Amino acid sequence: MPPVWSGLNSYGTAPLPPDGVCSGWFERMKLNRPDAPGRVLYNQPDERESTLAKTALITGASQGLGAEMARRLASDGFQIAVNCRSQAEVENGGNAVAAACRAYGVEAACFICDVTGFEACGEMVKAVKERFGSIDVLVNNAGITRDGLLARMSEEQFDSVIEVNLKSVFNMMRHVSGVMIRQRGGKIINVSSVAGLYGNAGQMNYSASKAGIVGMTLTGAKELGGRGITVNAIAPGFIETKMTEVLPEKVKEAALGNIALGRFGKPEEVASVVSFLASKDADYVSGQVIVIDGGMVM
Ligand SMILES: NC(=O)c1ccc[n+]([C@@H]2O[C@H](COP(=O)([O-])OP(=O)(O)OC[C@H]3O[C@@H](n4cnc5c(N)ncnc54)[C@H](O)[C@@H]3O)[C@@H](O)[C@H]2O)c1
Repeated sequence: MPPVWSGLNSYGTAPLPPDGVCSGWFERMKLNRPDAPGRVLYNQPDERESTLAKTALITGASQGLGAEMARRLASDGFQIAVNCRSQAEVENGGNAVAAACRAYGVEAACFICDVTGFEACGEMVKAVKERFGSIDVLVNNAGITRDGLLARMSEEQFDSVIEVNLKSVFNMMRHVSGVMIRQRGGKIINVSSVAGLYGNAGQMNYSASKAGIVGMTLTGAKELGGRGITVNAIAPGFIETKMTEVLPEKVKEAALGNIALGRFGKPEEVASVVSFLASKDADYVSGQVIVIDGGMVM
């Protein structure tokens, strides 16, 4: 790769150290040019990338799995953009999540956006890029359920779940991919579900949305791979969050009987897989769907 002259890092974030106080790899890379004092010649993109703070944007991160992913990625050293649907969500969860992230010594902020809105997603992506300088990881986590058997499911039940769970992933991938293409790299992690892979009675709408996410993930991986962008999905089974808390006891008992590990999963156990997919260790992993279900569907 030819050397790139720039006053900033490739994401435009890191302030340059003052002349003469550079150390480590910065020292080795820096060339003082009379016509561009303080500018830096980068010729080791990998080394550069591993040294600077990166940014992760997580949709629906004010509670549940999204909140846990935010905390985990903050502990990994990412700056965190916490997406909340409304101001009320910022106050009832988002602010606390951002504060928990900052406790790891990284920057974190809430961004209000209903991810069903195409333009609204574009505005949020622009705002995150302006605030943090880059978007290196996108986790499409926002999701809802409106369960019911097919014979009784309303059109509104079907459409609303498709809109929130599936259309939002298009909205976000469409806008963030532009940023990642310009950065020549990034990682997109979509939250699907075992219901999208194997179906689930009472979830025609939900399983359709989660199966659609798998299709988008595979297509995204093929389209964006050449630009250094990985696209993967995770498919959790039963994880202890507010989404599963409301399920009838009979449904929970039946589910437990099918889980090899004999228990539901914890949000941290999903966040750790997201952490791996967001990390350099997963640079050569793309177009995959990783099931996290304690051995439920196998
Ligand atoms: N909990 C599980 O067992 C389980 C299993 C498989 C998949 N999932 C998936 O994991 C994701 C997170 O689920 P969870 O269990 O944490 O649920 P949750 O209900 O606790 O959290 C969902 C989040 O999405 C947000 N959200 C919903 N609509 C939104 C919108 N229009 N714009 C922005 N944000 C919106 C909510 O505000 C909330 O923060 C979902 O996509 C869900 O389908 C969960």
